[in-house]
Amino acid sequence: MTTTRRQSVELVRFDHVGLVYPGGAPVLHGLSQSFHVGSFTFLTGVSGAGKTSLLKLIYREAKSTEGTVRVFGKDVSKLNRSELPQFRQRIGIVFQDCRLFPHLTILDNVALALKITGSDIKSSRIYAKELLDWVGLGQHMSDYPAILSDGQKQRVAVARAVIGRPLLLLADEPTGNLDYEAGYRLLRLFEELNKIGTTVIVATHNKNLISEFSYPELELYQGRLISRGREALRKLHSS
Ligand SMILES: Nc1ncnc2c1ncn2[C@@H]1O[C@H](COP(=O)(O)OP(=O)(O)O)[C@@H](O)[C@H]1O
Ligand SMILES: [Mg+2]
Repeated sequence: MTTTRRQSVELVRFDHVGLVYPGGAPVLHGLSQSFHVGSFTFLTGVSGAGKTSLLKLIYREAKSTEGTVRVFGKDVSKLNRSELPQFRQRIGIVFQDCRLFPHLTILDNVALALKITGSDIKSSRIYAKELLDWVGLGQHMSDYPAILSDGQKQRVAVARAVIGRPLLLLADEPTGNLDYEAGYRLLRLFEELNKIGTTVIVATHNKNLISEFSYPELELYQGRLISRGREALRKLHSS
């Protein structure tokens, strides 16, 4: 399959999507946007703009109250409870706070993510070790999360998120607790994954860091997408 062809397939598609949390004010409005197979997108916007909510709509942690969200070609509102685990297996998620299990070694933190899909623990550990080598933490595999730096913990979280070979990687403020250098290194890992075909969406408000990369940026402002791509954003800010 050629790159051009892959780029033309929509992995995630929002059509006129709105979200109102129960008893709350509207959070997202009129979102129509596609994320193509193999794309890398930065989702930006100030705190409260709706970035986390948009990501939650993709992995069906939240349900749109208007419009349609399609992921892997399927309207996610139609997924029933029993279909959700399998659906989410194809999505890797990295959070700002890593969410590692403190009582497990970092090897088992990563391997466990595969084990719960039914893989045997031995092969899960072998693959987890390979991924820890890839993120530069192979020598720490027997350590517990507490002794790692925030940047190292976040790289463990990336290894864990991708061990199931997800088609789509979502990261919600993954660099929020990191210094510039560690944040940059983390985004490079996402870039490597993207280069081998993973579709990546990174929510962040760290404009300095993302200016190092040439990927398109979608900005949310009070729950609406106000710009598409760097050029549009530059024009908007200079007008
Ligand atoms: N579970 C929830 N229930 C009600 N309101 C929420 C919930 N989660 C987020 N919100 C509200 O939705 C808005 C957008 O939040 P969020 O998606 O977390 O934005 P961001 O990630 O850009 O900071 C905020 O006003 C927030 O208070
Ligand atoms: Mg958020």
